[in-house]
This record gives sequence, structure tokens and C-alpha cells, in this order.
Amino acid sequence: MSDKIILGIESSCDETGVGIVRLSDTGEITLLADQVASSVDQHARFGGVVPEVASRAHLEAMVPTMERALDESGLSLSNVDAIAVTCGPGLAGALLVGVSAAKAYAAALDVPLYGVNHLAGHVAADTLQHGALPSECLALLVSGGHTQLLKVEDLAGKITEIGSTIDDAAGEAYDKVARIIGLPYPGGPPIDKAAKQGNPTAIRFPRGLTGPRDPKFDFSFSGLKTAVARWVEAQESDGKPIPVDDVCASFQESVADVLTAKAVRAAKELGIGTLVISGGVAANSRLSGLAQERCAEAGIELRVPRPRLCTDNGAMIAALGAHLVAAGVRPSSLELPTDPGMPV
Ligand code: KG4
Ligand code: ZN
Repeated sequence: MSDKIILGIESSCDETGVGIVRLSDTGEITLLADQVASSVDQHARFGGVVPEVASRAHLEAMVPTMERALDESGLSLSNVDAIAVTCGPGLAGALLVGVSAAKAYAAALDVPLYGVNHLAGHVAADTLQHGALPSECLALLVSGGHTQLLKVEDLAGKITEIGSTIDDAAGEAYDKVARIIGLPYPGGPPIDKAAKQGNPTAIRFPRGLTGPRDPKFDFSFSGLKTAVARWVEAQESDGKPIPVDDVCASFQESVADVLTAKAVRAAKELGIGTLVISGGVAANSRLSGLAQERCAEAGIELRVPRPRLCTDNGAMIAALGAHLVAAGVRPSSLELPTDPGMPV
């Protein structure tokens, strides 16, 4: 087998991503291009992603993003050996744009098409920075749309969910809390920044689903969000100012505490030695800091890809496609459907 060029297309939410990787005949995967066009600014005034706006933005951005990725790689479409595309989970209309584009390119170039799972893609992103995963690892996926603990035995097939949020995703909680205290959307970056000036023990916000009878590996962030809203309302009705930095630091402490405690506990109970944290919230400084401390204490190797690989992108889809090609998985047909609710 000679080197293969795999192109990945991502359009499940508000990022149009096109990534290109090279799969060497020894199975090594090298990143050649990673271009992302985000419609996040168009959603900001609504405080969340508007599906119709996202779909239209994908339509407009798909071809220019593809062209930028090819430019970055120094390759042309005729060099592409396979195309991978996110076919779920995600927003129905948004997924349809990427899948339709991928089918058109695959048919025109006469190359195989691989429909892949977005969640598995987030885990595959880490391999672009830290190399192949060990034979077994635990992945904590935290973004605006997902919060899951996954046992990963094989990126090309065997991924088992061992826990997930029962209500809001972690990133969604950041976005909602930002709105409550008057910070812009998306809420993660401004809360992370404000929290650096605040006291994480100023307010004791609840830790969701950490009672003795609660499910061990599931998460809940909706109660935390409500607790922040009630606390802020109480301050306001007493005519007191809102200590934004302390609220941010205390809220962030609750999220980071619960996520890291449950992930480390799961790794220990399942006897898994490596934890990967990915998704937009993995860019959070307190989450990675606390994960580092707790993983070191527990003797667990921690892998957190750089922020650019954590948020939605096409490179992670290309990387997952390369794993499927290397594993000899059968390609999808050109009838490939989208599946907005696709499980991992
Ligand atoms: O993975 P992503 O780009 O898109 C989804 O698939 O959702 O994640 C976006 C989420 C948003 O909710 C955003 O507020 C959050 O990631 N986020 C952060 C940080 N940067 C982005 N949350 C906490 N701290 C950050 N530094
Ligand atoms: Zn995502």
C-alpha cells in the first residue's frame, strides 16, 4: 500500500470544516490541512446555534473552505484517495450539507466515501497531536452539544458509552450561565477569563449527580445553571452588585470538579490507564489544570489535544477516516443517510 490522502468534511453544528491527512503505508497519520469557517458570530445575538442559519452558512462556506484546505496542503482534488464525512450526530440540515458535498466529491473523483460518527471524530482528533491511542482508553467528550464518557477500544468500531449528561451539555451550561451574568456567547472563553480573577470557593454551587445514590458516571448541569440564576437573582433583589469574577470561578470549579472526579473514578474502576479530554470545553484552563492534578495523583496518563483540535473541525474527521481506511473498513455507499441522533 502506498501513502493515501484522506479528506474530511465536518458540518454537524456551526463549524464548516475541511481537513486533509496523509496515511502512510506504516499507518502513520500526518495532518496536512485544517480549515474551519465558523458561523458562531451569526448565532451570538440569539445566545445559541440557530439551525437554519447554520445550514445556510455551511452552504456558503463549503466550497471556499475546501479550496483553502487544498491550498494549505499544496494538493489538488485529483490527489484525494478517500473522503470521510460526519453523518451524525448533529443538526439535520447542517449534516445534510456536508454529506451532500462529500457524496458529490466522492462521485466526481470516483473515490470511496466513509460516513463517520462526529463523537468518535472528537476522540480521533487527539491522534493528530499525540499519535496512536493505546489499546484501551477513556474519553471525556465535553462540548456545546455533548458530555459523555466513552470507553474506546478501537476507533474504527469499538466505542462504548459509559456515561452522559442527563440534561444540559457542559458547554451549554457555560453558554447559559454567561447569558445570566451578561457575558457574550459562546460563554466558555469569557467565563474562563473572568474566573482567573475570581475566587473559586466564594460561592459553593452544587455538584450535579454526586450523591451516594446517583448514577456514578452520568452528569447533570441544569441544576447548577439554575443555582447560579437563583444566586444572581437573590443578589439583585437585595440590591447588591454581582461579583462576576467570583460567580465565574465558583461555577467553573463545580463543572471542572464533577467532570474530572467522574472521569478519574471511571478510569480507576475500569482499570484504564489513559484519559483523553476533547470537545470545545476541553480548552477550559481549570478543567485541564484539575484533570492534570487528579490524573497525576491517580497515575493516569492525560491527553488533551490543543484547542484548535478540540473544537469542531474537519481534520478530526479526516483522521478518523484514515483509521477506517487503515483498518480495512468497508466504505459507505453513495446512499449514505444522515443520522442526527446517531449514538456513538
Ligand atoms: O466542540 P465545540 O466547538 O462545538 C460543539 O460541538 O458544541 O464546543 C463549543 C462549546 C461552547 O459551549 C463553548 O462555550 C465551549 O465549548 N467552550 C469553552 C471554552 N471554549 C469553548 N468552555 C469552557 N472554557 C473554554 N475555554
Ligand atoms: Zn463537536
